[in-house]
This record gives sequence, structure tokens and C-alpha cells, in this order.
Amino acid sequence: MAFFKPYLVLCYILTFLSLNCGPSHVLAKVYMVVMEDDPVISYKASRNHVMRGEEAQKYKEVATTKHDIFLDSFLPLGSYKKLYSYTHLLNGFALHAESEETVRILSGAKGVRLIQEDIKMAKMTMYTPNFIGASGVWPLLGGAENSGDGVVIGMIDTGIDPKNPSFVRNSMSSQEKPPPASFKGICSTGNKFPPDSCNGKIVGAMWFARAGQASGEFNATIHYASPYDPDGHGSHTASIAAGNFHTPLVSRGYNFGHASGMAPGARLAIYKAAYPFGGYMSDVIAAVDQAVEDGVNVISLSMGPSSVSSGPASFLNMLETQLLLATKAGVSVIQAVGNGGPDENSVVSFSPWILSVAASTTDRKYRKSIIIGNGQVFSCGALSPPTPGKTMYPLAWADDVSIENSTDGSADCQDPKVFIEHLVQGKVIICMFVSSNYFEGDSLAGIVDTIQKIGAAGVIVTDRYSGDVDIEYEPAFPTTIPSAIVLNGADMRALLRYYNNNTVRDEDGKIVSFGATVRILEGRRATYTGEAPVVADYSSRGPDVENAQMQPAEVLKPNVMAPGHHIWGAWSPTSHAMPEIQGENYALLSGTSMATPHVAGVAALIKQRHPTWSPAMIMSAIMTTADVTDRSGRPLMARRDAGVVEPATPFDMGAGAINAASALDPGLVFDAGYRDYLQFLCAVPGVDEAAVLRAVGAPCPSPPPRVGSRWCSDLNAPSVTVASLVGSRRVDRRVTSVGAENETYMAYVRAPDGVAVRVSPNEFAIAPGATRALRIVLSTTAPGNAFSFGEVVLKSDKKHSVRIPLAVYPAAALGP
Ligand SMILES: *[C@@H]1O[C@H](CO)[C@@H](O)[C@H](O)[C@H]1NC(C)=O
Ligand SMILES: *[C@@H]1O[C@H](CO)[C@@H](O)[C@H](O)[C@H]1NC(C)=O
Ligand SMILES: *[C@@H]1O[C@H](CO)[C@@H](O)[C@H](O)[C@H]1NC(C)=O
Ligand SMILES: *[C@@H]1O[C@H](CO)[C@@H](O)[C@H](O)[C@H]1NC(C)=O
Repeated sequence: MAFFKPYLVLCYILTFLSLNCGPSHVLAKVYMVVMEDDPVISYKASRNHVMRGEEAQKYKEVATTKHDIFLDSFLPLGSYKKLYSYTHLLNGFALHAESEETVRILSGAKGVRLIQEDIKMAKMTMYTPNFIGASGVWPLLGGAENSGDGVVIGMIDTGIDPKNPSFVRNSMSSQEKPPPASFKGICSTGNKFPPDSCNGKIVGAMWFARAGQASGEFNATIHYASPYDPDGHGSHTASIAAGNFHTPLVSRGYNFGHASGMAPGARLAIYKAAYPFGGYMSDVIAAVDQAVEDGVNVISLSMGPSSVSSGPASFLNMLETQLLLATKAGVSVIQAVGNGGPDENSVVSFSPWILSVAASTTDRKYRKSIIIGNGQVFSCGALSPPTPGKTMYPLAWADDVSIENSTDGSADCQDPKVFIEHLVQGKVIICMFVSSNYFEGDSLAGIVDTIQKIGAAGVIVTDRYSGDVDIEYEPAFPTTIPSAIVLNGADMRALLRYYNNNTVRDEDGKIVSFGATVRILEGRRATYTGEAPVVADYSSRGPDVENAQMQPAEVLKPNVMAPGHHIWGAWSPTSHAMPEIQGENYALLSGTSMATPHVAGVAALIKQRHPTWSPAMIMSAIMTTADVTDRSGRPLMARRDAGVVEPATPFDMGAGAINAASALDPGLVFDAGYRDYLQFLCAVPGVDEAAVLRAVGAPCPSPPPRVGSRWCSDLNAPSVTVASLVGSRRVDRRVTSVGAENETYMAYVRAPDGVAVRVSPNEFAIAPGATRALRIVLSTTAPGNAFSFGEVVLKSDKKHSVRIPLAVYPAAALGP
């Protein structure tokens, strides 16, 4: 049986952001306020340590009380409701207040550092029927029961279904052990989340919905006042990151193989902060604060703000600065880059301390075909069984087997009542699916349901408007009835020609006899084509957000690419997100949401192998070892508008396709810490020291002495991005050897068009644990009007290969 990594999937006929459905007229608003007092993480007492245990608990209580007293003394009683006190990473609170007056009062109040209005957050999954495009390869992990042991992954998502086979306790060795001693999270119980839910695999679970409650969108009946997942998204992502090893993957009664998380031995801590209606930043911030306080090692965030405002303030918004502090606390933050592609500049995860993940296709395909009476064969989609036996079944157009006065409503097969029972029995019915009506009630689930109810032998679904566009289409949900989706325009017309040619009608158009026949073949067996991963068209693209000068920030986004298209994972049977998969325990979904937990799982594996590595080192290991070519050396491709496939650039795939095996042994790493990130912030054009102080509570560190100005590109990242290279620029980097032996590295350069690149030293020896400075000097040789891309590869005499992508905009000097 093929080993199914939890590949996933859901894609799009429509691009649908599940977030835009809340009431937009709410008068009262939620505000997040940061106070000048220190949070636990950066409490500057004389002692040089982070508070823990009782000491931290006391500090939290005092801080919370201070918030209450503060609010009580400044605001009229009854004019507000405090939703949260944040104390661990940020010292502040979220407030539901009736009027702008509140903001005015608070802005003037002593002790307030920053106020920000709440922002909606979107899950990065597409709940629509799916296309399948080209496919890819997910590097083998050698993952087994103990991979990830000792590491806790915090899932900030829609909760989890603790009864799913991917999460139930099994006899695997790691789950017999207690959770890591450093993890202090608790297990909140409640509706559909009984006390035994935290079972060894799940080690902590909480839920955060106060902003959702304040907006009126949270409904305990359907969203559950417990960590239970009403949506499916959270169970799906959790199973990809750390689902149990080798769990039978059964959907609609068929075993599609076995699911396994990327780090099956890692533990999951669940922080439910998103819902079928989306989420709010103030709830997400409460969840992140708790996760870091509890002691998670990795945070997986398949969510982002539903829109990103550009400008220097982007990096200083409250979630970004909080995630910076999470990084400071040693927690790796992995976030979906967004589903806004293939438009340029569409990333919603943009800060350099966050590992932002793009989505690729995989090389798994489900192939299916139908054979018609004249011998023609059409390939099509549908994860469904074949028609029984080798016999041909009579074919009937839905309108031809339904009551006469209902021609309006029969072809879409949404209503079983219009069909004439004795005419449909034993036949394969042709139905029309209007994909653009998907959200107005027409659904493939409705068709399947109708066909089942009327007792037909199977169904062929065509898209009424597929016209001449030959799209490769595959619905990514299994059905129990034989079905076939023929959306290819030419195939559909050939099928209908054949049908009409073999159907005898009288003068009124009434059917005299059906003569067309068809056989539907098996469609539930996967094949692996060995094709390289291709960047999914919806995956958000760089460059990064723009700064005050309307230039992209000098940060490479996305950072890395992982499988996100048509991925199997756990599903919540109570979810109403897609009627086609309602009631199931496993589902195929697509989106950068699905790519993200793949990387979170790999980060957990690295953390297990190298427990002392900083988040920047882990990010570096993942980026510098990513693949940019397939096994035969061909460059990876990216899908763009209208299905065009072109070589992928770092703005499509970041450093490349994640390669877990190499990431565990990168040879060299580019480390960076809190101070480096502060320096980065202070170098962002338009950001001054006061703004950094307000947002982060720390001043700009004095830069190391050097000639010339400081740039964002100076951050010690495993990539180089220069948004406007006028003349030349020197970019400094530091590499640290994490290899086991003395190694000698040589630098190989592929310069971006229009740019000369010099690396010095271009050959160096480095001992284990040692650090070397590297200088990369970039000079414009031919100004252009776009970014161009290249790379520096450091190759060692011991087989390590460290790749640093370059994205440079060679600009002409201004003026005469
Ligand atoms: C919550 O959802 C249930 C089930 O859909 C519904 O009956 C109820 O009216 C909803 N409650 C509110 C306050 O909207
Ligand atoms: C038209 O359809 C309705 C039910 O949809 C049925 O009751 C009625 O008899 C039909 N009329 C004719 C003329 O077939
Ligand atoms: C239609 O029928 C004619 C005569 O039976 C046959 O020659 C022709 O190939 C048929 N065309 C299709 C598309 O089946
Ligand atoms: C690396 O080289 C140095 C100097 O040649 C030597 O002393 C040291 O033992 C070597 N270390 C390893 C791990 O080989």
C-alpha cells in the first residue's frame, strides 16, 4: 500500500476567502491596547532571567489587576468590556467598547503605549471544488513514531476533533511518555471535548473566542464552547504537522492509504482561535500569548490578516511584534504566505522573523476514465468506484429522464423529485454542474445525493460553461456512487454528440429509445508521476509589503514552499464547510494553509535533532537546503494566470521546495536574534526609533560600527533582497558551522541579470561551531525595470550545499 503523506487539497472554481461574512455594521469595536509596563517575557528586573513559575504567575495577576484598575479609572462604567488581558509576550488588553470616545480617552492616558483596532483574520484554505494541476514530490522524511518526540507544536487554528484516528492515543512509544516537562499547558474540556481528549498526542487545548462573541458571530451551538473543531481546518492542519503514524485513511468507505504527520512523534497543543466565520486578531493574539507561555516549541499559523496594509507600519502591527517576541522566546513561527496568487505582491505573511510558506502541487494523481459505446475513452476526475462488472450501461441526459414541465431544474440534478423513476433505473445520468453557482446552492454533493436517491447506476457531470477551455479538473472528494467529471470542453462536446447520435427522438423531441452506453472505471487509486512540485497558482507571491518609499521591503517572501495542493488530512465530521465531505474523518484540501503544517512538522524534527537551535537557525536550515530543481536537474516551475507554467522565482517559491532530510544537516546556518530584528526594524524606511519603541518596547540597538548606511538587507537572513540597487551595495552576512567536521566552502555565484556579484572570501575553511563573516557586494551593470534573480551557493568539500537566493532590482541612478 502506498504510503500517503497527508497530502491535501481543496481548490478553486471561485477564489473564496472564508472570512468576509461577518456583520460589518457593528458599532461597538474591539481595540487592542499595549501598555508601557513590561510583559513577563521582557520584565527588566535586576535579575537577568525570564520569570517562570510562581513568580511569573504573580506578575501576571498583578498586571491583570492593573489593567482592570486602569480601565476602571479612565472609562465610564458600562461603556466597555475587557475581553483579554495579555501578559506574557505583550502587556496589554483587548477591549470591546461602544464609542470612538473610548479610543480618544485611552490614547491620551498615561501608561498606554499603543492602540490598534481589531483586524479580521482569514484561514488560508479554499473551500471549493478542486482543480488538480501538475504535481510534485514531497521529500521522504523517514518519519516514524518517535520523530518529533519531545517537541510540542502549537496549532493556532479552528480546534481539533480529539476522536479522529490521527489523534487518538495509540500504543506508539512516544505517547506512553509524559509530555515534555517544559510544557505547562492545560486541557480545557467542554462540549465534544471530554477530559480524556488530552491523551498523549494532544497535550494541551484551549479556545479563544471573546472577540468572536463580542461581534455576535460566535454561536456556542454550532461553534462549540470548547477546543472541539467545528470547521475541519484545524484538525486537517494538525494531522499534517503531527498526526499519528500510519493511520488508515478511510473516506466514503474506501481506504485511500495511510495518513501520517510530518512529525508523528511530536505532541500537539491546540489553541482554537478561528471559526467557520474566520477569526479576529485579538483572539489570535490571546492564543499566541498562551501558547508561548505554555512552552510550545513551534507555532503553526495557517491564517493571516484578511488584508495587509502596506507602509512601514506593517512590521509594527501588534501580531507581528508579538510574533517577534515569540521568536525571542525561542519559538519558531511558521505561517501561511496567503492564497492571493498569482498576483505579485500578494503575501499576507511578511515579517523576517516568520517562516512564510508557499504551496506547491504534489506528484500524486488520481486517474479515472470512462469508455463510451463507440470505443472512445475520456479521462476525467472523481474519486469514485467503477460501474460494476465489464458491462456497458445505458446513458441518459438528465432532461430526457425527468418530468416534462421541469426542464428548468433537472439538468443540474439538484432535485430527485423531478426524475421519472423507471427511466433512470440502471442508467448513467449526464448532469450539468454550474460551477459559478456553487455558493448559491448548486453543489456536486447535491448531484451525488440525487443520483443515489433516484437509483441510477452512476453519473457523468459536465460544466455547463466549460466551453472551449480545457481545464484539468478533479473534484477532491470521494463519492460512493460511480461518477465521472468530464469538464474538458472538447470531451464534453464529443460525449454529447455521441449521445444525441444514438438517441432516437420523435418529432416532438420525445425520446423513443436510448442507445448510447458507457462504462465508468475505478478512480480511487493514486499514481505517482514523479513530476516535480509546481507552485500552485493561488499561492501568494512576493515581493514583500511596500515601505514608505513604495518599494518592497528588503525581505524575501515567501521563504519556502511545501505541498499544499490536494492534501489528505483529518477532517471534522460535524463541519459544514463543504457539503461534499460532510460527515467524513478525512478530506483532501488545498491552500497555503495545508503547506504550513508540513513545514511546522519539519521544524519539529529539526528541533528534536538540534534542541538548542534558535528559530532563525531552523529557518536557515530549511531555506538553504531547499530544492530548486527536480531530480533530473530541471528548474521548478510556477503556475500563473490562465494555467501558464513558467520557471519559478524566489518570489513564487522562496528558497525552494522544502527538503526535510537535508534540512536536518545544513552544514552552515545564518543565525539572527531579537537584536538583529530590532536593527532591521530600525532600518525600515519610514520607521523611526519612537515607532519601534512604541510597538516593541525596546530602543534601536546601536549598530556595529561600519561605513555607509544601514539597510534592511543587512539582516543576517539566508537570502538577499535589494529593492533598488543604485550603483553598488555591500551586504554582510555571518555563517555558523553546524557540521561535525572541519570543512572548506567555495562560493559559486549565479548573478541576477544586470547585476555583478562578488563574494568574499570566496573560499574559506570553517571548524565546527565557528562563525565566519561573508561579504556580498552587488553592483548594477545594466539597469532594468524589474527584479532579477540569482543565487550564491556555498559548497563544501564534505557534500554540504548552502543556497542563498538573490532578488535584486538593478536601478538606474536618479537624475543627471
Ligand atoms: C445558534 O445556532 C443554532 C443552530 O443553527 C440556531 O438555532 C440558533 O438560533 C443560533 N443562535 C444564535 C444566537 O444565533
Ligand atoms: C408539473 O410538475 C408538478 C410537480 O413538479 C406536477 O405536480 C404536475 O402534475 C406537472 N404538470 C404536468 C403538466 O406535467
Ligand atoms: C453518428 O452516427 C453515425 C451513423 O450511425 C456514425 O457514422 C457516426 O460516427 C456517429 N457519430 C458519433 C459521434 O458517434
Ligand atoms: C579541525 O582542524 C583543527 C586545526 O587543523 C584541528 O585542531 C581540529 O582537531 C579539527 N577538528 C575536527 C573536528 O576535525
